[in-house]
Amino acid sequence: MCGIVAYVGDRTAYPILIKGLQRLEYRGYDSAGIALMNGKTNIYKCKGKVKDLEHLVKDQDISGSVGMGHTRWATHGEPSDRNAHPHQSMNGKFIVIHNGIIENYAHLKKELTNRGYSFNSDTDTEVLANLIENVYLEQKVSAELAVRLALTRVVGAYGLVISSPEEPGMLIAARKGSPLVIGVGDKEYFLASDATPIIEYTDQVIYLNDEEVAVISRQGLDLKNIYNDTKTPEIKTINLSIENIDKGEYEHYMLKEIHEQSNSITETFRGRIAMDESKIFLGGILDVMHKLIDAKRIVIVACGTSWHAALVGEYLFEEYARIPVEVEYASEFRYRNPIVDKDDLVIAISQSGETADTLAAVRLVKDSGATILGICNVAGSSLSRETHAGVYTHAGIEIGVASTKAFTSQITVLTMMAFLLGNKRQVLPAADYKALIHELIQVPDKIAEILKEEKNIEKIASIYKDVTNALYLGRGILFPVALEGALKLKEISYIHAEGYPAAEMKHGPIALIDESLPVVVLAVQDRSYEKMVSNIQEVKARKGKVIAIVSKGDKVVKKMADQVIEIPNCHEALSPLLSVIPLQILSYHIAVMRGCNVDQPRNLAKSVTVE
Ligand code: F6R
Repeated sequence: MCGIVAYVGDRTAYPILIKGLQRLEYRGYDSAGIALMNGKTNIYKCKGKVKDLEHLVKDQDISGSVGMGHTRWATHGEPSDRNAHPHQSMNGKFIVIHNGIIENYAHLKKELTNRGYSFNSDTDTEVLANLIENVYLEQKVSAELAVRLALTRVVGAYGLVISSPEEPGMLIAARKGSPLVIGVGDKEYFLASDATPIIEYTDQVIYLNDEEVAVISRQGLDLKNIYNDTKTPEIKTINLSIENIDKGEYEHYMLKEIHEQSNSITETFRGRIAMDESKIFLGGILDVMHKLIDAKRIVIVACGTSWHAALVGEYLFEEYARIPVEVEYASEFRYRNPIVDKDDLVIAISQSGETADTLAAVRLVKDSGATILGICNVAGSSLSRETHAGVYTHAGIEIGVASTKAFTSQITVLTMMAFLLGNKRQVLPAADYKALIHELIQVPDKIAEILKEEKNIEKIASIYKDVTNALYLGRGILFPVALEGALKLKEISYIHAEGYPAAEMKHGPIALIDESLPVVVLAVQDRSYEKMVSNIQEVKARKGKVIAIVSKGDKVVKKMADQVIEIPNCHEALSPLLSVIPLQILSYHIAVMRGCNVDQPRNLAKSVTVE
């Protein structure tokens, strides 16, 4: 949450910052601001989006080849001009942009107030700016040392860029918990929360580690941790191109990403399935395979959509690898005293690899002896660095705030892992293993078929666009898909929606059903089909409206439902991958028809780096 971008070099900083902020806007869009250094410092900031900032700076001095920019997702203090970043310390010695939360800010603020400091905003970031300044002035140390000393007093998470007008031409970057990437050019450096603002300038990057502080100027880069130990920067090459972050012909990123799913799933299994379809290879977990084979239990931790993928994983691991699974909200798990030991396998799933709660859950079990795996979409992310091993989803960058292609790629990885472990543990016969792999590689073509149904789904969206509530029902492996369908609808269209296991309907939610309630049912040909038919009858008997996702050629549900969306027949294990696609499309069109900003829904941010 919050996007950070900064530049030091010979170019004019402003266009780099603005373009960078536009790319980072998915991380928060409550306010935007920039600081430009050109002998003097100009700070421009306002409530609203990057386009409001662009409007604000029209006819202003935007020169300078050192600068920083910020797009905010509000934590401390409402979205407003005064709470927008950058923040300046009281005596103007430091300018700070920040992604994260300073947890002990109230205590620090009190201390600084007692020392005569006053504050212009409600933010924790301004407290930090003043703390650094206080250390700088009282201890008469360099700006860099003041930053490091101040950070030893901070509890919480930060991705920071700091400049000191007294040492112009220099930026100080620091990180703990919130991501920060340094792009390395020729006598120029770029800083950003992710690599998207820098890819047209350089593919050489350094991912800052926790508690590291980098001092950057045209002359070079110095890296230390906050305790003054010198660190060697590890430069990596990133593989990301402009096309990956362009909307192309699509009106929204979300629609583009929905349509990318045949390809993104193909990317997820590219190079991981033998040509003769007899084997799955997952290179990232080879070294720990013996531990996975012997695991007594799997605990999966995740949040939001990734948690729904985890629930699908639970069905898959139990069914095909015969390993008991527990799925936990990372945010709950981290505050319990969970029982995890060396025979457990802990899997953390996160698109961004930066979700604060998921990372905290991983850290909590680090000393348990359990093997910890990450399933993650972002190479070099914190999760990929804090787990013993893992599998990248390779879905490609996901920019729409509502997760779509990352979800199906996560499920694809979990499916491959479950089949592979089933085979290695000798609980999945070789012939079944091969047959399942064969079914899996048909999925991209089947998704392409579903995507052709978009016009039909759009018509259904137009019928239900004005509803205030919706219910999603599924059973077995499709129950998590019901949850995901409901989440997609509520987060982008602001319609209240609930996902339920269909059999639970009688235990309460059935009271909601009347002629105004649309009920989306997942009624494909699987072991629960007959039971879903009964559930549909129960909804219809109470005059509910039924939108059914059915297998191609279905005749029974077709007669009962108000609308049906057909998906190709597939093996039950793979039905989540197909049945979620129409739900994503339905939510998308309903949200667009309601005039909602689907790519940047209110109050949300893509990467939840604060708890
Ligand atoms: C919903 C959505 C969120 C994320 C959740 C976890 O569409 O995107 O619910 O799934 O914030 O994020 P990651 O997967 O990055 O850990």
